[in-house]
Amino acid sequence: MRVVDIIQNKRDGIKLTDEEIKFLLNSYKDGKVPDYQMASFLMATYFQDMTDEELVTFTMTMRDSGDIITFPDLDKFLVDKHSTGGVGDKVTVAIAPILSALGMATAKLSGKGLGHTGGTIDKFESIKNFKFSSTKEDLTKIANKTGVGLMGYSDNIVPLDKKIYALRDVVATVPSIPLIASSIMSKKLAIQSNVIILDVKVGDGAFMKTIDEARSLANRMIAIGKGANRDVKVVLSNMDEPLGYNIGNATEIIEGIEALKGNWSEDLKEVVYTIASLALKSKGVIKNLEEGYPLIDEVINSGKALQVFKEFIKESGADPAIVDDYTLLPQAKNTLEVYALNSGHIHRIKTEEIGKAAMVIGAGRETKESVLDYAVGIEILKKVGEKVEKGELIAKIFYNDPTNVENSKNMVLDAYVIDDKGIDKVKTILDIIE
Ligand code: URA
Repeated sequence: MRVVDIIQNKRDGIKLTDEEIKFLLNSYKDGKVPDYQMASFLMATYFQDMTDEELVTFTMTMRDSGDIITFPDLDKFLVDKHSTGGVGDKVTVAIAPILSALGMATAKLSGKGLGHTGGTIDKFESIKNFKFSSTKEDLTKIANKTGVGLMGYSDNIVPLDKKIYALRDVVATVPSIPLIASSIMSKKLAIQSNVIILDVKVGDGAFMKTIDEARSLANRMIAIGKGANRDVKVVLSNMDEPLGYNIGNATEIIEGIEALKGNWSEDLKEVVYTIASLALKSKGVIKNLEEGYPLIDEVINSGKALQVFKEFIKESGADPAIVDDYTLLPQAKNTLEVYALNSGHIHRIKTEEIGKAAMVIGAGRETKESVLDYAVGIEILKKVGEKVEKGELIAKIFYNDPTNVENSKNMVLDAYVIDDKGIDKVKTILDIIE
């Protein structure tokens, strides 16, 4: 078998066999195929796509390039919730305790943030002394005890994805739907779960800019799930404004805790309730998603979900008193208020711009090496559809280092598109694909 023939077949739209796909990927993993050949294959895939059959083999071979995590000693219905990356996305903070309180468990791998999007690891690491599980055994232990287990991605989980993603980045093939689908799903398939629920973000600041692109990514990931015999559900959710009100790390933890106390922003509530209801349906507890809502209300109103969060924080080495005293979390020293430049309705909030405005004051990473300031962040006080007057307070920037704060303020002002056109409140859940 010759790699050049495989590339040629892909270039000409001829379906590859399982053996050809496995040969290509395994040879690349072993360093026997040079980057220029793999780059050429990726570009051919960018234009020619993959059939579902090819995609399943491609993804399973990627998954098998590293460790596969199973939990033989974890006796709970396991939910793996994954977001394709958003701004202000603190869904995991709120949903993991809710799922546990509903009798399920989360045992998942989480990522760090890069660029304008945040990462779950960073948010929890803003809590003093908080330690993520570092081994499968720790993860099982804490998930058994509290119903919540989070671990960072190690280099041994799908190493081939790391190698291929780095190459895609420099040969302009990141935005390829089959390559994104296999990259995400190879990592989801590497860890045991009963249901995988993917929150695919759509809009400004998201990988998928349009609903059609998002739908097609969703369908490809569901096809991979079918091929791998796994239950995959997808929520398409709006990223044409940040999720909730806070963008940062400690400040997003606070918003997540407030949600568990019943104080929700409408959009965050919609995403969390929808995903939790999908999990309940997958487990067979309910038949229709609406039946999940009162069950979730119950674990919030009774304080059960908040109690799980406290236990999880305690088991992770940190002080559960943060739940009642936010001054135990990192605090920014300064606040800069941002006022509307004109009157009208908020038509749009450029999400990527807000994410970058938070990044430049230290809430996010410009490069993998950037050091975060966990205390800082941006609070948006006005959401899309709301009316504002010129000079009205629309956002607050919490900062320590003043170097970039003016820059950040200008980015926030630029992100707020205020005009006279008026707008219906944006829908948060754009579609659900089961
Ligand atoms: N997230 C991933 O893990 N991979 C991609 O290719 C895109 C988003």
